[in-house]
Amino acid sequence: MKIIVVAGARPNFMKVAPLIEAFRMAKVGRPALEVMLVHTGQHYSPDMSQTFFEDLGLPRPDVDLGVGSGSHAEQTAGVLVAFAKLLEKETPEWVVVVGDVNSTVACTLAAKKLNINVAHVEAGLRSRDRTMPEEINRIVTDVLCDALFTTDPIASENLIAEGIDPSRIHFVGNVMIDTLLKHRDKAKGLRLWERWGLQPGSYGVVTLHRPSNVDESGAFEGIISVFERIQERLPLVFPVHPRTKKMAEKFGLWKRMSRLQGLHLLEPLGYLEMLSLTGQAALILTDSGGLQEEAVVLGVPCITMRDNTERPITVEVGANRVVGQRPESILKGVQEALSEGRGKFRQPDKWDGLAAERIVETLLQAG
Ligand code: UD1
Repeated sequence: MKIIVVAGARPNFMKVAPLIEAFRMAKVGRPALEVMLVHTGQHYSPDMSQTFFEDLGLPRPDVDLGVGSGSHAEQTAGVLVAFAKLLEKETPEWVVVVGDVNSTVACTLAAKKLNINVAHVEAGLRSRDRTMPEEINRIVTDVLCDALFTTDPIASENLIAEGIDPSRIHFVGNVMIDTLLKHRDKAKGLRLWERWGLQPGSYGVVTLHRPSNVDESGAFEGIISVFERIQERLPLVFPVHPRTKKMAEKFGLWKRMSRLQGLHLLEPLGYLEMLSLTGQAALILTDSGGLQEEAVVLGVPCITMRDNTERPITVEVGANRVVGQRPESILKGVQEALSEGRGKFRQPDKWDGLAAERIVETLLQAG
């Protein structure tokens, strides 16, 4: 039995790592099981890709398709063509895709056109916002997949409501949390906050990269104006995504951001460094998907600068506030979160470090 596991972009690497490890364990006593790791090359800069392989102990990919950046059409089509060629040569029984990036949908489409089984890890998340490229990727991927692995019962219900055969849906928990639990202590030991003379629990961590926040100058400028106010009271550490830096320079915001004493701008961080920072933060201020979930387990209040979330469980357990893009509502969310402080939120069922094992077991049984 041959299985291809696909990773393409930064948020994929921490999801495939526990799967590769669980497959490695499963191979003991199963000499016929062959597992290949394919990198599409959607993210290619060392700090968006290579560092994660090192931090997570991932083996070098067996194949790198080297697709790189481009428009959504170019990137998706590039992965589709390159991955289909690989599949014709390798003919696996299963392809495993994770998350909601362009590589996820492109590899699913390539495999299904060749009648190859596809498993989607992190299926069923829905923001109901079809202007978000990831929402399109999620819907198309899920409708085509043969096995759909969900992180929580809300995601399973979304799939059932869309008419997906319940026998294909498996609620297994959260592979990204498998990775977090495994690396948490090691990350804490790095004490990254000391680099800026900060104390645990006395700073906020910021991430920002959604096209809806940074590709439009008005929205981006509004968010920066809030950071200006917050950093007067609470130091903020902000690893800047390449897209965000590019747009800040284009809109003339970069200099304004660089001048702020309490806003520490940095290059993208590796997995362990980021976890070291977020783990001891007073607050996470983000538009990312994964960080909303990590905040639940870390006990750090999260402010999500978007109009919606595909991860409502994070709000349900009290860890996350979805506040939109307006400066006043972001500020209000920050004030509320700071006055509540760090907390121990209810932990979702099966976010226990064993999700990847459940997935591998299910796939091997399916044959
Ligand atoms: C992608 C994902 C998004 C995810 C994000 C995390 C899609 C539709 N979006 O968005 O869901 O949250 O990754 O990072 O798949 N760039 C580099 N080096 C790299 C990669 C990108 O410099 O290694 C720059 C390029 O200028 C590129 C831009 O960042 O054009 C955007 O990269 P792209 O992969 O198109 O989308 P992301 O915004 O990273």
